[in-house]
Amino acid sequence: MPSKKNDAKLDGLISIKEASKRLGVPSTTLRHWEKVLEGVWAPTRTKGGQRRYSQKDLAILAKVKHLSQQMSLSEVKQELLKEGAKEDQGAIYDFTDKVILITGGTGSFGHAFTKYLLTEHHPRSIRIYSRDELKQYQMQQKFNDPRLRFLIGDVRDRNRLIKATRKVDVIIHAAAMKQVPICEYNPFEAVKTNILGAKNVIDAALINEVPDVVTLSTDKAVNPVNLYGATKLCAEKVFVHANVYSGDRPTRFSCVRYGNVLGSRGSVVPLFLKQREEGIITITDPRMTRFWLTLSQAVRLVARALAIMNGGEIFVPRIPSMKIVDLAKAIAPGCKQKIIGIRPGEKIHELLISEYEGSHTDMFEDLFVIHPNGKWQPRGVFIKGEPVPEGFYYASDKNDTWLSVQDLKKLLKKEGLI
Ligand SMILES: NC(=O)c1ccc[n+]([C@@H]2O[C@H](COP(=O)([O-])OP(=O)(O)OC[C@H]3O[C@@H](n4cnc5c(N)ncnc54)[C@H](OP(=O)(O)O)[C@@H]3O)[C@@H](O)[C@H]2O)c1
Repeated sequence: MPSKKNDAKLDGLISIKEASKRLGVPSTTLRHWEKVLEGVWAPTRTKGGQRRYSQKDLAILAKVKHLSQQMSLSEVKQELLKEGAKEDQGAIYDFTDKVILITGGTGSFGHAFTKYLLTEHHPRSIRIYSRDELKQYQMQQKFNDPRLRFLIGDVRDRNRLIKATRKVDVIIHAAAMKQVPICEYNPFEAVKTNILGAKNVIDAALINEVPDVVTLSTDKAVNPVNLYGATKLCAEKVFVHANVYSGDRPTRFSCVRYGNVLGSRGSVVPLFLKQREEGIITITDPRMTRFWLTLSQAVRLVARALAIMNGGEIFVPRIPSMKIVDLAKAIAPGCKQKIIGIRPGEKIHELLISEYEGSHTDMFEDLFVIHPNGKWQPRGVFIKGEPVPEGFYYASDKNDTWLSVQDLKKLLKKEGLI
């Protein structure tokens, strides 16, 4: 029996017989078009596998009917891909009347995302899920908004997550252990929070049929050299392939992967600010480069990803790189720089997209989309941009956009960090 939620999703959709009648196209032709358009368009299916068509599907099929009189079906497919890409540029998820749960909602990202939702959208409620009651109390005092709900819970606790995600429309999974040395020193704890926590979020989302679920990942997950990166790589894989378990449920899982966030808790900016007072800035390696983005860019990227995701994608922003020595100059121009040598688990340069991933990556004006190369049945339209050139990879030392000392100064001032 289809669940109530699934029935509700199918309300107003019509059968293939009715679609064929309305379009004046035989059902066999509709089935043939569906085959040719695989990966670009597909109708919704009932639990029993019956096709169901929405008004948007009918509009797409009417376009296929019209275009197929002037060009081949493979050319029609290309046309639809181009149009889809245009529509997707700049799309932002509509959070109106939605219930959103943010795991790790009291962290740097959670604060920024909550502020964004409360000031730029009209959510029904936002559930903040994390462990420490003091951080929750302080956040409650700061925002003082009745739409916020504070839920104490650990992502390691599956049952708590199942209760917390009832009647939720969107989950943003931000909770993580993210300090490289701490993860190395407490390896099983990192596995429990970052990998098993991700699995628990997936289980809870599937059980409660939460439609849209996004996890936050990091450049350290690409060709990882430390346990933090390795656990985040596993979390990404688990999220991408969780779409297999989704079956005919409405739930879709995707990832958003980005580099260092300017000024987030535990980042190098607060460290340099503290060292500035003592007059010596420690640099691990003068060649070191990093990708860099602001919290508001990270927030917007998640809202974009939620709007255009189809399940299984990894969304990567197109962001500038900077040299760590330039950041030190921007924060503490008069200070000495002391080279202390690279730390275990650290890379000289970071990677946001590996060469392997480049083979199934598309480029948009503001982001890259690494498409899933799993074997599950795609549902709906996968967004398509410009394919990246052969052999492409996205490394912090090979970037075409860089932040100079002056740019960094301006950015740090704008973010209120210096
Ligand atoms: N900051 C960056 O530069 C950066 C870059 C790339 C990706 N990311 C990713 O973005 C996400 C958010 O990062 P952030 O900078 O906002 O981190 P953050 O400021 O350290 O916040 C982490 C949040 O997770 C919660 N948390 C930790 N362990 C938990 C657990 N076991 N169960 C429930 N909640 C838990 C923390 O609250 P409690 O301690 O109270 O539970 C806190 O609310 C992370 O997944 C991180 O890997 C961050």
